[in-house]
Amino acid sequence: MAAPLYKLNKPHLLGIEGLTALDIAMLLDRAKTLAAANFKIDKKISPLLDKTVINLFFEPSTRTQTSFELAAKKLGADVISMQVATSSVKKGETLLDTAMTLNAMRPTVLVVRHGDSGAVQLLAEKVNCGVINAGDGTHEHPTQALLDALTIHTRKGRLQDLVVAICGDILHSRVARSNILLLSKMGAEVRLIAPPTLLPVGIAGDNVTIYTSMIDGLREADVVMMLRVQNERMNGHFFPSAREYYHFFGLDAKKLALAKNDAIVMHPGPMNRGVEIDSAIADDVTRSVIYQQVEMGVAVRMAALEVVGEYHAGGAK
Ligand code: NCD
Repeated sequence: MAAPLYKLNKPHLLGIEGLTALDIAMLLDRAKTLAAANFKIDKKISPLLDKTVINLFFEPSTRTQTSFELAAKKLGADVISMQVATSSVKKGETLLDTAMTLNAMRPTVLVVRHGDSGAVQLLAEKVNCGVINAGDGTHEHPTQALLDALTIHTRKGRLQDLVVAICGDILHSRVARSNILLLSKMGAEVRLIAPPTLLPVGIAGDNVTIYTSMIDGLREADVVMMLRVQNERMNGHFFPSAREYYHFFGLDAKKLALAKNDAIVMHPGPMNRGVEIDSAIADDVTRSVIYQQVEMGVAVRMAALEVVGEYHAGGAK
């Protein structure tokens, strides 16, 4: 397969916020080509061939870390995933000291996940390699939004004018934030559905409408994107009980019937079955695209590593 024709012209991928609609379209296009080729590229033309990629995850991860690792390997890179739980972070080393230590090993790209919003940007300002944000606090998770967009595009053939309902714990969700930015940039109609306590202030805007009831918000939706209730980010109670939450905001067959007949169901994972989504819906392959999201994650992360790698490996400086 040929090398990508576009360049990102940015040293890092920190958020959807810094991307233009053209950047997004190009990344999605490249990821689609990579997925169609079964993630196989001619490694000789890979900007990451024999370069080093380090995954630095300060928060737990299954899908994101594994798919970044796989993506980097498919691009011919040497990849290391730091085990933060057994690293010097546990001895009190600061984020920046850890990052500078890894930076001294001359990676081409650092992939970073951190529990604090803004931490990945701070780190990117200090190191002299490329940085990809794999999720920072409640702020952004750009590759998740890109893989969600690629999944939607693959199933629906477009993003423009689709009605995408994002439901659940929007307040604590970096996935929601990045998706809202991406989908509204690409011309989709975004509906946010959540209890008032789980909605951030000032989030509504052009193409972004707020609903506090699934019954109103799901009507005629093309895409239903469920979010995990992020208990680990909550201080105190944001809703009375998991049972009540499921009753009003859990996706079951009855609520899904309000959306279009061919609406697809998404979830970034990990899922709380029986809290935000009924198990039968999650496992219904005629509606649920949850595993396609995971598959698209590898392609999107290859495309992201390629463009950031290209910038730092002697490409478009
Ligand atoms: C998400 C995350 O970490 O933000 N998960 C993921 O990357 N697939 C969503 C979540 O944890 O709920």
